[in-house]
Amino acid sequence: MNNLLKIALPKGRLGEKVYKMFDAAGFSCPEVLEDTRKLIFENRDKGVCFFWVKPSDVAIYVERGAADIGIAGKDILLEYSPDVFELLDLKVGKCRMAVAGKKGFKDNTENTLRVATKFVNIASDYYRKLGRDIDIIKLNGSIELAPILNLSDVIVDIVETGKTLIENDLEPLETIVPISARLIANRSSYQFKNERINTLLDRLKEQLEA
Ligand code: PRP
Repeated sequence: MNNLLKIALPKGRLGEKVYKMFDAAGFSCPEVLEDTRKLIFENRDKGVCFFWVKPSDVAIYVERGAADIGIAGKDILLEYSPDVFELLDLKVGKCRMAVAGKKGFKDNTENTLRVATKFVNIASDYYRKLGRDIDIIKLNGSIELAPILNLSDVIVDIVETGKTLIENDLEPLETIVPISARLIANRSSYQFKNERINTLLDRLKEQLEA
């Protein structure tokens, strides 16, 4: 398997979309899209091996070389700073990292701001640059509940359509950074499998420009 190009795809709709881009680039393995519980697929003719990974774990597989390349959200790259090459913005999975709070929320700078988030580093960096004192509350999901239950004043989270905020009577207050899916590569794989990775990279770029 080691001479195949090992590709970590994020499980879900985004991964399926990206697989289709790989397919169009000549790195196909049709079994990938079959409705099965299998997680790993090889196509020796094309020299590829794909596997489905939890989206937030892709960068770990790539950093440690279990995958040569993968697709990770910019949110994960900013939050965990994995030691990988970021090769291309795939312009899919677009959303933004934002601060949100209850409708009409006004920050009282005399108090420490309570910020609930999964993205502790992104939130801390953002407020450090603003010189704002905060108390970080690390949560693992359903972040939108925090301001409603007065666990926090605001949240730092991903906003895609904005629907989750609206349905919970919250509103976006500030955008921190735009997010999209990125093609990443393991540093040594990028040296040893350079030709194949660059062929893929060029063909993906052509698709994005078309
Ligand atoms: C993300 C994010 C928001 C939601 C925003 O959660 O945490 O809850 O999507 O999307 P919207 O603006 O289109 O409503 P996700 O569904 O990824 O699940 P998570 O709670 O596991 O992060």
